[in-house]
Amino acid sequence: MEKVKMKIPDFKKYKEEGKKYTFVTAYDYTTASIVNESDTEIILVGDSAAMVMLGRSTTVGITLDEMIGFIKPVVLGAPDTMVIGDMPFGSYNINAEQAISSANRILMETGCDCVKLEGGETVAPTIRRIVDAGISVVGHIGLTPQTATSVGGFKVQGGTPEGAAQLIRDAKALEEAGVVAIVLECMPSMVSKAVGEAVSVPLLGIGAGPYVDCQVLVTQDLLGMYNGFKPKFVKHFAGIRQEMVAGLNRFHEETLNGEFPSPEYSFNKSVEIPKLY
Ligand code: KIV
Repeated sequence: MEKVKMKIPDFKKYKEEGKKYTFVTAYDYTTASIVNESDTEIILVGDSAAMVMLGRSTTVGITLDEMIGFIKPVVLGAPDTMVIGDMPFGSYNINAEQAISSANRILMETGCDCVKLEGGETVAPTIRRIVDAGISVVGHIGLTPQTATSVGGFKVQGGTPEGAAQLIRDAKALEEAGVVAIVLECMPSMVSKAVGEAVSVPLLGIGAGPYVDCQVLVTQDLLGMYNGFKPKFVKHFAGIRQEMVAGLNRFHEETLNGEFPSPEYSFNKSVEIPKLY
């Protein structure tokens, strides 16, 4: 069946229909084209690119220009998939004008469908301004990697009654600010369920259990490509890293034993070579 691109109004439609969907990351043209060929509905070009693509230890240093550089080829590679562009740290925390200007750049320079930014109650007024400027926004609460150090590192959030209550307040504030959906990252399933009971906006969960509308994973994690830290919520649905290493080793071995390149992989036209030596 031909893939039909998910559009922004489908967030609401899928919620009403109770339809589940998936959302993964991509940071380059080739990966985006592979995701585009799959049934996946949404690609996020996340600031996780800082760690997965650039080998940095946090997402904090990636710039707006670097993010735009990652988002552009993904949009080209995935014409049938919704693409969300992540707003990096420092691109929306000065004032609403700066946030609107950064969101404008992401949409206008890349052609992606909407932007995502991290934060709850405190960021909601900024989100309202971006939404009022005509830009669709996905919120992101729970474990928010850009500010993870201020909550004691990469830890499950909402594990106390106060923490759970704050997440509910954050989700309500984002809903009121007009987000089209909210990413819930790394929280007990009971808490994401309670958030879902408190708001009617679609919930996109990563490490947030089963009671959400959409499951999110980083592509390099779910395909078993990334060899760094593996959080509890990451399931490997394939072993691509091993496949890649095995393929590279076959290439190496066949080069050393002369099996490659055989005539099949060589240009075999005979040419009369002038005697120059
Ligand atoms: O940057 C990212 O990959 C993300 C996802 C983990 C949701 O924000």
